[in-house]
Amino acid sequence: MPQIIDILLEEHRNIEKLLHVLEHELEIFDRGDRPDYEILQTIIQYFQDYPEDCHHPKEEMIFKKLKSRDAVAASRFGDVEAEHEIETRRLRSFAHVVDYILADQEFLREDFHFAVHDFIEHQRQHLKKEEQLLFPAAVKALQREDWAEIDARLDDRTDPLFDRVVEEKFHTLQETILRWEQETEKTRPAKT
Ligand SMILES: [Fe+2]
Repeated sequence: MPQIIDILLEEHRNIEKLLHVLEHELEIFDRGDRPDYEILQTIIQYFQDYPEDCHHPKEEMIFKKLKSRDAVAASRFGDVEAEHEIETRRLRSFAHVVDYILADQEFLREDFHFAVHDFIEHQRQHLKKEEQLLFPAAVKALQREDWAEIDARLDDRTDPLFDRVVEEKFHTLQETILRWEQETEKTRPAKT
């Protein structure tokens, strides 16, 4: 397996952790309590910072190569860039509803629910689609020189939240994720 695919898969698992935190905060909102808006804002900031700026470009490079090596497999996926643009728009709508609430503007509870839920669901569908249709097709079709070219074009930016050194602005979010993971571990039925 090319190393970049392992990295992308790990980044997907990290995104899933954030989607779980979002889901949890949305449940709090849905039962009429106040979610942690700061955490929501930090998650939005993370998505804008790393997945949009670093994760998506890697997948787009792979998709471009796949189009030249196996156009049928690429068309089975569709258009990765267009999907990423739609995800960016969903992230923006999510950010708007949070800004709205924090600015004490009037809003419909359904609008907030819809924007957050829509973001979570489509992210999940998108990750799954890439894992089922893009990555395996690329592993099959791309040649050694394609991977080498992609590797050479990668920047060596590290993930500001999930790498060893966590940027200060993401410390609280990292603690939330760890707490959430511990709670999930506790509620998981014991293995027999
Ligand atoms: Fe992805």
